[in-house]
Amino acid sequence: MISELIIPQEKLETGFVHWQSPSNIAIIKYWGKHGQQLPQNPSLSFTLQNALTETKLSYAPKEGPSTGIELDFWFEEQRNEAFGAKVAAYLTELIPTYPFLEQLSLKIETVNSFPHSAGIASSASSMSALALCLCSLEDHFFGTLGDDTAFDRKASHLARLGSGSASRSIYAGASVWGKTDFVENSSDLYAVSVAERLHPIFTTLHDDILIVSAKEKAVSSRAGHALMNENPYAPTRYAQANQRLGTLLKALEAGDLEKFGEITENEALTLHGLMMTSHPSYLLMEPQTISIIRAIRQYRAETKIPVFFTLDAGPNVHMLYPEEHIADVRGFVHNELAGLLDEGIYIPDFVGEGPEEV
Ligand code: PMV
Repeated sequence: MISELIIPQEKLETGFVHWQSPSNIAIIKYWGKHGQQLPQNPSLSFTLQNALTETKLSYAPKEGPSTGIELDFWFEEQRNEAFGAKVAAYLTELIPTYPFLEQLSLKIETVNSFPHSAGIASSASSMSALALCLCSLEDHFFGTLGDDTAFDRKASHLARLGSGSASRSIYAGASVWGKTDFVENSSDLYAVSVAERLHPIFTTLHDDILIVSAKEKAVSSRAGHALMNENPYAPTRYAQANQRLGTLLKALEAGDLEKFGEITENEALTLHGLMMTSHPSYLLMEPQTISIIRAIRQYRAETKIPVFFTLDAGPNVHMLYPEEHIADVRGFVHNELAGLLDEGIYIPDFVGEGPEEV
């Protein structure tokens, strides 16, 4: 099977594939991994719409040495050697799966829809966009991924090898990555869609990403995952995430915003609690993160508007709320939160349609 993915000489040609793929926000967090990018617990996320990466992968018959990856990498219209080296390392690891990558001279041009300086993690959108390009390439040369499910699973699998959370960005609406009895066909190897299980209130959920700090985080996700191996709370955490996924799915199906909010906020604080209880311990929240969390809780208590927070592995706050409350919540952001944001920046986003071929 593997050796079949070699392009016959007469079919070697020039062309390109082009995808845009969004970021996602996890409700049940993936934190802790083993083996080759396998999760210690299942996770569930909403796929976003506006925060996305657009990636064009151009290819031509290679003229240079026949082994190894030949890659010219451009980020935001500039050649970027540092990113290029990372992507070349990822592609090199894929050679056993995709030996044809050694037959081509590759050029990748990638841009993000959100400001580079916003401190938003782009690994989910960028790795999923690249994985989708690679699947299009496979399908173009070998016609092996005509079936949509097969295409999506392969793309999710390849995205996972680049960044675990990227595996979930392949699907519209919401998806689950990691084996769980609560989702049929779920797997540690790739994510599957759970969009059809969303009550309508969640299909248009908003996520305003409140930028507290645009600085690069002090501890990478990779290092954070590794610290979970020695975290004394890890076994309990993995069991909790498993069980919570079932409870969350019921709330998503029923449109139970209160249960959804309770789990969402606790997951965010649990993630950061795990960081604080790692050895060495570290903190990614900033004072403004806490101020925003308090302001959201107070606003919710006073107005009864169901607005909730979650956090990624960083200080920025994702504020989630149903579409019908957009006017009120925007007023809240402008009147009460703007002063806590880095240059007043927030990125309005919502649950989206998933990746698109450009
Ligand atoms: O995909 P990674 O390795 O960058 O890990 C991301 C982990 C969190 O964003 C904190 C949680 C998640 O499930 O997305």
